[in-house]
Amino acid sequence: MTIDTDQYMQMDRQGIWHPYTRHSAAQAGDFPIITKGEGVYLFDAEGNKYLDAISSWWACNLGHSHPRLVEAIIRQARELQHSILGNLSHPRAIELAEELVGLFPDPRHVLFASDGASAAEAALKIAIQYWHNLGHGERNRFASLEDAYHGDTLGAVSVGYLEGFHLPFKPLLFPAYRGESPYCGRCKHGKEPASCSQECFDSMLAVFDEHADELAAVILEPLCQGAAGMRIYPPEYLRLLDKLCKEKDVLLIVDEIAVGFGRTGKMFAFQHAGIDPDIICLGKSLSGGYLPISATVVKDKIFETFGDQPEDRTFYHGHTFSGNPIASAAALETLRIYERERIVEQAEQKGRLLKDQMAPLSDLPHVVDVRCLGMIGAAELDDEPRWPQQIRERLLGEGILVRPLGNVVYLMPPLITSGDILNRTVEAFCNAVEVCR
Ligand SMILES: Cc1ncc(COP(=O)(O)O)c(C=O)c1O
Repeated sequence: MTIDTDQYMQMDRQGIWHPYTRHSAAQAGDFPIITKGEGVYLFDAEGNKYLDAISSWWACNLGHSHPRLVEAIIRQARELQHSILGNLSHPRAIELAEELVGLFPDPRHVLFASDGASAAEAALKIAIQYWHNLGHGERNRFASLEDAYHGDTLGAVSVGYLEGFHLPFKPLLFPAYRGESPYCGRCKHGKEPASCSQECFDSMLAVFDEHADELAAVILEPLCQGAAGMRIYPPEYLRLLDKLCKEKDVLLIVDEIAVGFGRTGKMFAFQHAGIDPDIICLGKSLSGGYLPISATVVKDKIFETFGDQPEDRTFYHGHTFSGNPIASAAALETLRIYERERIVEQAEQKGRLLKDQMAPLSDLPHVVDVRCLGMIGAAELDDEPRWPQQIRERLLGEGILVRPLGNVVYLMPPLITSGDILNRTVEAFCNAVEVCR
């Protein structure tokens, strides 16, 4: 598609409020206008090509314009573009729910929505109403991790507060009990992985000791606190939390929105810990990142308390586009591609290359920590605000699109990125980190 870039940039400045973008950056108007995506690449209006090294906000695990996905979307659009799930149903949502439930060990039901925040928000409300249904309205608090991120709606922000993002909304948020962030990169307890005994878990233990009777659920991002700066932590933390939740009868909600669907080298990150959470939030790559769809997958022991006999305990919650047929068709095709192309196995193997290649970065004096898990590779830099931006600009010039999180620069490329391209990308990334100082 050809457009007049200057004219579009001007129209952009006049009309678009860009999410998570400073006005100064939007006004400077120096970001590319993307007109095409193909495989692992995005192309701008000037014909420049960029490797999508953040998978378009961690969603496009299968890259762009995958022919099978495009075909599935077109096919479904011709047949039925939208119909609701309130007192109606349609084949794609039915098939998708069946496939999703089949990914987990025991019977579950799936509540669809359109974005990640809505999936997290639904999980919180389901947990609250579950206890209400059981006659335990006093179980109406949550525990979560410091520096968590579960989306930008008010409930999700209440359990996922990041000061830099959410300060103005503080007066509106409900209080949540916080466990210390398992921030291995800057361990407050001075431990290294080899000597770590999950000391950071003690604060969560203390929350449970004092407040278990008030807790409806704990919610957390399994193994990687993404928005906080790709803080990767060991599965042992999840195992301890799962055990504690079982002991104290508190629901465990895992937010797999960013890390689900193979990103960590397993289909779901919580599987590294061998646990079986009560509620699982899915989004982003559920449809390969092609169309907005999310899901809250809930164990039947919870679902079954929402009956309407003799009293009405219906979950009065939903969205116009919950389980939209075209988005569901994209999600179904995504799952087929995962199976056919062995996407998760690929991610696991390539993740090892990524890790090996990034390891030498930890010798650089201005690199505080290097952390990798599956197809996530991050480097935390000393607190020098100019470096991440310099790295971003340098890589953009080399045709690689990254988007630092504060002083953390990271790669999270599509899982289909070939070994060769991955190799070259990591090399360019490491060079950029090395010379930024
Ligand atoms: C762990 C996690 N949960 C929830 C969300 C929110 O998803 P969405 O942006 O689709 O609302 C995100 C987004 O980055 C996320 O990383």
